[in-house]
Amino acid sequence: MTLLLRINSSSRQSGSHSAAVADQFEASFRQKHPGCRVVTRNVADGSIPIISQATIEGFYTAPEAMSSELVEATALSDRLISELQEADTLLIAAPIYNFSVPAALKAWIDQIVRLGHTFSYDAGAFQGLAKTRRAVVICTFGAEGYLEGQPFAAANFVQPYLRFLLSFLGIEDIRFISVQGTTADPETVARNIEAAKQECRLAA
Ligand SMILES: Cc1cc2nc3c(=O)[nH]c(=O)nc-3n(C[C@H](O)[C@H](O)[C@H](O)COP(=O)(O)O)c2cc1C
Repeated sequence: MTLLLRINSSSRQSGSHSAAVADQFEASFRQKHPGCRVVTRNVADGSIPIISQATIEGFYTAPEAMSSELVEATALSDRLISELQEADTLLIAAPIYNFSVPAALKAWIDQIVRLGHTFSYDAGAFQGLAKTRRAVVICTFGAEGYLEGQPFAAANFVQPYLRFLLSFLGIEDIRFISVQGTTADPETVARNIEAAKQECRLAA
């Protein structure tokens, strides 16, 4: 069965523009894939802690040497990785926070990027092990000018970072849908959101 894994990372649990655009992607995806399953993770709801010492230790401990404390400390990572590995499409809703990704999204990333699970390192070469074939990233920006060729493109650490990271994991088909100017006047915001929703209808 087709599975969409949706990661919401705005701290706003209501009124989020990135979530509203992701809603459209999800609705169009459900239409195009009748019977599909959607798993949603609201990573800013406090369910994903910043990676701990025990979790890191567990990541680098051989399975047969894992103590019960390390098994427990890596259980969330196991669960998040299996969600990712089962997903055909990964949908990430990511606002720009201080020129980068929200800390909550980074916390999820630190749980799922794991040697031997989502990437390997052998003879000096990294290889992505993600089975997910496609990622769609919806980015919202309060201001304008962050896209390629625009004045603040150098301050956009969201898209180049996520593009590198997702391709490092082995996801080949990566698409960004951007909404800039979400703090502009209501007409501009409505127009920009609608343009992104239209992209979602076509991309889903
Ligand atoms: C903590 C924080 C940091 C932000 N930093 C930036 C920024 O660096 N650049 C920018 O254009 N907008 C910035 N914004 C504005 C948000 O990116 C914008 O409001 C976006 O729409 C938030 O996504 P959401 O609507 O899904 O919550 C910031 C907002 C917050 C709350």
